[in-house]
Amino acid sequence: MKSNFKLAPSILSANFSNLQSALDICSEGGAHWIHVDVMDNQFVPNLTVGPPVVKSLRRCTQKFIDVHMMVVEPEKLVEPFARAGADNITFHYEAASNSEKVIDLIRSSGCKVGISIKPNTSIDKIYHLLDKVDLVLIMSVEPGFGGQGYIKGSDQKIKNLKSYLNQNCLDRVMIEVDGGVKLHNAKHVVDLGADILVAGSEVFKSSDPVSTIKKFYKLAS
Ligand code: DX5
Ligand code: ZN
Repeated sequence: MKSNFKLAPSILSANFSNLQSALDICSEGGAHWIHVDVMDNQFVPNLTVGPPVVKSLRRCTQKFIDVHMMVVEPEKLVEPFARAGADNITFHYEAASNSEKVIDLIRSSGCKVGISIKPNTSIDKIYHLLDKVDLVLIMSVEPGFGGQGYIKGSDQKIKNLKSYLNQNCLDRVMIEVDGGVKLHNAKHVVDLGADILVAGSEVFKSSDPVSTIKKFYKLAS
C-alpha cells in the first residue's frame, strides 16, 4: 500500500446536529480531506446539504473540502459551492448534459475538478475527459446512502482507470473510491490504484472514530 493516500471521511454518517465534532474527529485523527455528500432527491433518492453547510464548515476548518455533488443540473450549483469555500467539486457524468461545460465552470471558479461515475457506468465513457479533470471518483456503491457494501466489480474499474492514466501520461489525475470502504478492504483498494479513500460509516459509526481514522493511515505504513 502506498503511504501517500489520503482519507476523506464522509460527514454523511456523522451527527448532523454537531458537525463541529465531526471536524474535530477528522482533525484529531489526521484525516486529509472532508468529504461532503450533496444529494438533491432527484439524481439520488436522498436529500442532504447545500452551500450554506459548506460555508459553515469552511469557517471552522482549514482542511480540504471535497464536495461530491449527486445532483441533476450540476452547472447550477458550481458557483454557490465555490463561493461557499469548496476546494474540490465533483459532479456526476450521468447528470450532466454537457460535461465539458461543467468542467470549465468548476475550473474557472478556482476549484479542483472531479468527475464521478456510478457503478453501472463503464469507465471508458469518461476517457475523453480525463485530461481536463483533477480527479475521478469511482462510486463503489449505488450513490444515495452510506453503510452499503463495496461492489466487487469496482476493482476492475479502478485497475482499468489506473492503467489508462499510466499509459496516457495522466498520472496527475487522482483516483478516489467512494462507498463501502472499510478497514478490511482499504489496503486492497489502495493497492489497486486509489489515491483517496472516502469512508463514512466505518469512521463515524465506530465506537472510536479518531482511532479508526488513525488505523486507516497505519495500514499504509
Ligand atoms: C454515497 C456517498 C458516500 C457515502 C459513503 O452516495 O457518496 O460518500 O457516504 O459511505 P460509506 O463509507 O458508509 O459506504
Ligand atoms: Zn460521496
